[in-house]
Amino acid sequence: MGQTQLHHEGLKSYKIDQDFKQNSQIVVHEGDTCEFLKKVPDKSFKLIITSPPYNIGKVYEKKTDLMNYLKVQESIIQELIRTLRDDGSICWQVGNYVQNGEVYPLDIYYYDIFRDAGLKLRNRIVWRFGHGLHAQKRFSGRYEIILWFTKSDNYTFNLDSVRVPSKYPGKRNWKGKNKGELSGNPLGKNPSDFWETTKSDWETAIWDIPNVKSNHPEKTEHPCQFPIELVERCVLALTNEDDWVYDPFAGVGSALLAGLLHNRRVAGSEKEAEYVKLTRERIDQLFSGALKRRPLGKPVYQPTGKEKISQIPTEWKKEKQDESLRSILVQ
Ligand SMILES: C[S@@+](CC[C@H](N)C(=O)[O-])C[C@H]1O[C@@H](n2cnc3c(N)ncnc32)[C@H](O)[C@@H]1O
Repeated sequence: MGQTQLHHEGLKSYKIDQDFKQNSQIVVHEGDTCEFLKKVPDKSFKLIITSPPYNIGKVYEKKTDLMNYLKVQESIIQELIRTLRDDGSICWQVGNYVQNGEVYPLDIYYYDIFRDAGLKLRNRIVWRFGHGLHAQKRFSGRYEIILWFTKSDNYTFNLDSVRVPSKYPGKRNWKGKNKGELSGNPLGKNPSDFWETTKSDWETAIWDIPNVKSNHPEKTEHPCQFPIELVERCVLALTNEDDWVYDPFAGVGSALLAGLLHNRRVAGSEKEAEYVKLTRERIDQLFSGALKRRPLGKPVYQPTGKEKISQIPTEWKKEKQDESLRSILVQ
């Protein structure tokens, strides 16, 4: 992954604006996204990246009929597209809506909205994580989707900024005119459309340390926050320095932090005052060097098998012994 020299390292003062201005550096709007967008000129943002409310009854949302929910989202999306630059991208991260046990994958519904509005899908990225709720009447869900759309065919894609180490850097072509030559790229390989980042770490942390809510460095009280690292990859690949990155459902500002870490201008709108407060605090921590975060590209935690929670508990071992004893006695 590309290392950026941060312009703001050691910066003592910075300004956070409440409304959008083209020459701002940071905009944090407390209030409704539609209100915020009214003051944003056409074609301002290079990257719009968000995880919208999923309409599943989280504390910050009121669950409504799926079609009603999508109608509201569609009107916001029209406004977002108006504010997107012609060479810009939208990354829309969603999971499932579940009604009476029936699963509705939200990306399927959103795809039509964006396609009908003239956007072009570049990737349907699978974000896989290792832990979560254990379903009883279907297989447990362990991935979510990021739909990456562009407004035109002329868009930024900085592959070299997000390459990851190749598994076999010494691999050579075994036939053709380049036979015997190295086949890979010294900067690493394309990270692909299957992303396995922090969420498993996040959940493992909960399991590993009993009585601690979570020891993931970025966790706040927000129920479904982006790992900063997830947004960083999109910021690096789809924007350049000084471009605008905007999150219309900003939560605790993870997308803004990812943009600031790489010298982008950032904006976010969020209706809940407590999340806006946390966003401001996290931006302060970033500038003072106190922000705790999981570094970009850190390998996902793999249990070694030695952890107590990786081992079969004694109760289950005993049950198995009793069972085999019973089967011997029956014979
Ligand atoms: C899935 S969360 C996003 C979390 C965010 N990615 C983060 O890392 O913190 C969606 C957020 O959208 C906010 N929200 C929902 N409807 C909104 C609206 N109409 N205007 C502004 N914010 C809204 C919710 O309060 C919630 O914090």
